[in-house]
Parts: sequence; C-alpha cells; structure tokens
Amino acid sequence: MSVTQRQVLDKLGKVMSPRGVALTEAGVLSEIAVNDGKVFFSINVDAQEARAWEDVRAQTEAAVRAIPGVTSAMIALTAERKPGSGPASPPRRPGAGGVPPVSAHRPPHSPGGSPMSRQAEIPGVAAVIAVASGKGGVGKSTTALNLALALHALGLRVGLLDADIYGPSVPRLTGINEKPELTDDRKMIPIDRFGISIMSIGFLVEEDTAMIWRGPMVMSAITQMLRDVTWGTLDVLVVDMPPGTGDAQLTLAQNVPLKGAIIISTPQDLSLIDARRGLAMFKKVNVPVLGIVENMSYFQCPHCGERSDIFGHGGARHEAERLGVPFLGEIPLHIAIRTTSDSGNPVVVSEPNGPHAAIYRAVAAKVRDQLQGIIAAA
Ligand SMILES: Nc1ncnc2c1ncn2[C@@H]1O[C@H](COP(=O)(O)OP(=O)(O)OP(=O)(O)O)[C@@H](O)[C@H]1O
Ligand SMILES: [Mg+2]
Repeated sequence: MSVTQRQVLDKLGKVMSPRGVALTEAGVLSEIAVNDGKVFFSINVDAQEARAWEDVRAQTEAAVRAIPGVTSAMIALTAERKPGSGPASPPRRPGAGGVPPVSAHRPPHSPGGSPMSRQAEIPGVAAVIAVASGKGGVGKSTTALNLALALHALGLRVGLLDADIYGPSVPRLTGINEKPELTDDRKMIPIDRFGISIMSIGFLVEEDTAMIWRGPMVMSAITQMLRDVTWGTLDVLVVDMPPGTGDAQLTLAQNVPLKGAIIISTPQDLSLIDARRGLAMFKKVNVPVLGIVENMSYFQCPHCGERSDIFGHGGARHEAERLGVPFLGEIPLHIAIRTTSDSGNPVVVSEPNGPHAAIYRAVAAKVRDQLQGIIAAA
C-alpha cells in the first residue's frame, strides 16, 4: 500500500503543538517528502522554543510511523534563531531584519571566539572531520571509508557518517544492508562493521531511490543522522560529504561542528579547479583544511606493478603547496582498490598488509597528528 502526503497531513492534524493549535496549523512544517513508504520532513521552530517541541517531534514521528505502509520516518526539529532572541543570537548588522538566513547563523568574523562556537558539539565525539571533493566521482567515498578504517587501525575510536544524501555509497562499499535499530528513546544505533560505527542515509532509503531533497531538508536529515545517533565515545567521526560546493554543501560545512576538512582530488586540472573551490568554501566558514589527498594519482599495473602517470600525477601536491595547505598523500589507481570497494571489503581491512592499506595508514597518521591536541583533550 503506498502512503500519500494526504495521509501524513491527516495524522499531523491530530498532533497538538505547544502553540495550542494542531501541528498543521502552527506554520512550522517543511515540505513533506513521501517516497516509497519513507517519510521525511522537518519542524522549524524558534531556538528558544526548541525544548518544548522535542516531545512533539517524538510524538509526530511515532504517529507517522503508525500509518500503515510507512516503513521509516525521519522527522527533524530545526531551530531558527530570530533577531533579538536573547544572548544566543549572533551579532546582527544594523538595519538587518527578519529571520536570518542560514549563512547568518555564524558571524563572518568571530574575534577571539572559536569559529565553532555556534555549533553544538556532538557529546562524546572529539573531532568531526569532513571528507569533501569539489567534483563527483573522484573517489571521495572510497577514500573516506578507507581513511576511517586506517584511523581505526592506528588505534583510534572511529565513526563514519555518509552524509552524501544524494548518492549514498557507504552501504555498497561496506556491504551493509541492514537498518539501524532504535533505542528506547528512539535514537538510531549505528552499524558496527570492521570495528568502526557507521551511519548512512542509504540504510534508511534504497541506494537507487531518487530522493528529491529541498534545502532545509538536507540539513534536517543530516542533523538527525549526526545528533539522533548513539555514536558513543569517538576520537574521530569522518563525514563523507555530498560532492560539490553548492548551497547544500556550504550549509553542511556551516552547521556541522567540523574540526577540519580533507579535500580529495584527482590530478587532472578540472578536478583541481573544483578542489580549489572546496578549499575556498571551507575557508569561508572558518573550517581548517587538514590537507589534500590525490586519488587515482598514478596508474599501477596489477600484473607487473609498473607505474604510469596517466593523469599527469603530482597536480594536487603542487596545488597544495601553492595554496599553503598540507599534502596528505597519493593513492594509486589500482584495480584492487576498486574491486575491494565495490564488493564491500575495503582494502584497508581486506588486505591490511598490502601496499594500499599502508598508504591509507600513512594519510591517516598525518590526519591524526593534526588532530592530536583535540583528541588528547577529549
Ligand atoms: N584509487 C582508486 N583506484 C581504483 N578505483 C578507485 C579508486 N578510488 C575510487 N575508485 C573507484 O572509483 C569509483 C568512484 O569512487 P567513489 O564512489 O569512492 O567516488 P565518489 O567521489 O564518492 O563518487 P560520488 O561523487 O558518486 O559520491 C568506484 O568504483 C571506486 O571503486
Ligand atoms: Mg561518494
């Protein structure tokens, strides 16, 4: 039986909001997406009211889940700060009015303060880091997963969040095809695989389900995967970002409490131009770039081991030098990396003594060293 938006709205009309009117009358609902039994939307309220709404969010989620045919429901509470809403508000420019756009949630300059001060940390998680690329298909997900596993191999407690809601690939790369279980207070329990904790929107929706995500929903879904998950105690949470540097990525970079970002590029000029955009984006939101990784750096023949620089290897290293950011390493284009990835057996765990795992561990060691102070302080 297919669920309709109407059925969801009918249910929501029966949930009372703290404003004393039905939820559908309270002017707080985002667009409601219903896709093959999966329901997603957000409740957008003023930050000061957020606490009062938490119960309503939980009730709403339970009500939606009870609709026959609904297989999963993801309902996020998102809080907008209104001008003059108390000390938590960002400084406002004179003459600015109305609800601040997302970009105003963090002031452009925060002298003396941490650039992360407006983003709540994730309890128990020492460092959230993003793996990003200016362009799709450069091996961002493969690198994010193998980097997470390599950090774990170095003895760190690691989580991986696949935030690529447009094309989640972590279920395929890890072979995970189960849904996360829920705790009594309805938090999702990440899937434990290869010693790391993993969460992906792909565990909740089919990988090939075309999802249309509208602006605010992107952030709600990611916020929920970040905050309504029992991550436990982690040294590093690696976030596989959606590819590109558009609004969705910028919003994400702004709203996730990132301690740093890693840019993945191939050596080609086009990829490098996009990588530069990625760097500029993180700079704009004051997230330090931990470095650039050159993926598919050179071709290594699986038979004779001979190496050839089919893409003009070294471009990313030069670019990193030019831009003054660390260069983290070169990962070859090798069939073993592709076959292990595509069969759900990432090379760092399936061939831990091989040359590729060693390269990923060397990259991971550089990342760990940069996060040392943060991890040790946690
Ligand atoms: N170093 C490598 N050697 C060989 N194959 C690789 C390498 N890195 C990635 N691949 C392969 O390239 C393809 C794309 O990789 P991946 O899915 O990680 O890219 P992505 O940047 O996350 O893509 P998307 O933009 O679609 O999310 C996959 O088939 C993967 O196995
Ligand atoms: Mg990907």
